[in-house]
Amino acid sequence: MSDHFTKGMARNIYYGGSVFFLLLFAALTLHTTREMPKTDHRENLTEAVARGKTVWEENNCIGCHTLIGEGAYYAPELGNVYFRRGAGNLIAFKAYLKAWMAAQPLGVPGRRQMPQFNLNEQQVDDLAEFLKFTAEVEVNNWPPNIEG
Ligand code: HEC
Repeated sequence: MSDHFTKGMARNIYYGGSVFFLLLFAALTLHTTREMPKTDHRENLTEAVARGKTVWEENNCIGCHTLIGEGAYYAPELGNVYFRRGAGNLIAFKAYLKAWMAAQPLGVPGRRQMPQFNLNEQQVDDLAEFLKFTAEVEVNNWPPNIEG
């Protein structure tokens, strides 16, 4: 073997490395697309969940909150709020969310405020369905603690 680093060696590393990582990328992409349907529970995607997502987006909830870690860090993570405040029970969670949304802003001194959105009952109901759906996506137990 030559003790010089030749152009040919550099070229082989370049092409070999490119092919290796391209194949790795393709394999991981395939793995993700195969595994996703098992973990995201897309069978639970209903009209109500879709409507709830629209309410979520139109009111920019993500401007303050995170959802499965993505979003803004002003207010609590809501990816698991269905389990945190509804204990995994849809009726209990809907009742909680209705009361919570109606009570804003709480006006407690020294505490961050959430605005009043004046949503109607249907919109809050749909939001609850959306947050339930999000909570049931399997994300390797993220966030690690129930308080978000
Ligand atoms: C301007 C920032 C802001 C926006 C926008 C906002 N929130 Fe909040 N939200 C807060 C803050 C701050 C808190 C924590 C308030 C507290 O603990 O008193 C909070 C708390 C919550 C909680 C209670 C979480 C818990 O763990 O108890 C829920 C549920 C919630 N928000 C839902 C929503 C929804 C749904 C939207 C969109 C319609 C939204 N928020 C938009 C600031 C915001």
